[in-house]
Amino acid sequence: MPPTNAISCSTVRADFNDLLAVVHYTRAAHKLGLWASERILIDRFFPDKSARLLEAGCGAGRVAVALWELGYRHLHAFDFAQELLDQAHSLVLERHASITLFSADATALRQCHLISDIQFDGALFMFNGLMQIPLRRNRRRALRGLAAACRPGAPFLFTTHDRDSSSAEQAMWRLEALRWAKGAQDPRLREFGDRYFSEEGTGRTFMHLPDRQEILADLKATGWTHTYDVMRREIAQESRAVRDFSDDCRFWVVQRT
Ligand SMILES: C[S@@+](CC[C@H](N)C(=O)[O-])C[C@H]1O[C@@H](n2cnc3c(N)ncnc32)[C@H](O)[C@@H]1O
Repeated sequence: MPPTNAISCSTVRADFNDLLAVVHYTRAAHKLGLWASERILIDRFFPDKSARLLEAGCGAGRVAVALWELGYRHLHAFDFAQELLDQAHSLVLERHASITLFSADATALRQCHLISDIQFDGALFMFNGLMQIPLRRNRRRALRGLAAACRPGAPFLFTTHDRDSSSAEQAMWRLEALRWAKGAQDPRLREFGDRYFSEEGTGRTFMHLPDRQEILADLKATGWTHTYDVMRREIAQESRAVRDFSDDCRFWVVQRT
């Protein structure tokens, strides 16, 4: 049995509905828009502006509204944090966009009637949202649900951290492995690679940090074929504002098998 204070999807949802997080993501949606790296990959892998796109974990609408402004016209976007979704609705109205926003849990997409009749031409789960789902089996559920919503060949773009991305990270995770071997890890965490931390201005954050092999195995098991992956720093020099908002991450582009 996990401890009673173990991080669950409800913990994550409550953290994203918290005022601090809502202000943080709403500000980014209004002021930051797409990162340079996101723009490059979207232009490259989603060239068709008439494609039906599904954005998971849209938060306050940072990516969905930017896609609209780039000319994509068939957009569905969902989140399970209602406070963020309310902010996304306001931004959509303010920018005169037309985006179907709805509340859904990425781990239970198959129960979502709103999209059951649509075969999407592409999907996105940006800024590590997939990795904010506790437990690997739940992340795989989300990957399977997104695969079921997309047509064969559809691209899916998402990001993760990478435990092996630098020697400092590797050293940090070697220490963490020793803690897990002794059973001395944070008892709220469920799997090696999990982190739960607080940051000034952002609030509490759960994040699973995978290694590359873990993601490759999860993709293979859930109906996705790997196309491309790259660290953000290798594709764009981000502005100071973007670097303040977000750490470096690994972009993944995969295709519905
Ligand atoms: C780091 S935020 C990114 C928000 C937005 N995409 C952006 O880039 O500004 C991750 C988002 O994923 C959402 N999320 C996490 N787990 C989810 C789940 N199981 N179902 C739906 N949304 C989820 C959170 O509520 C949050 O809005």
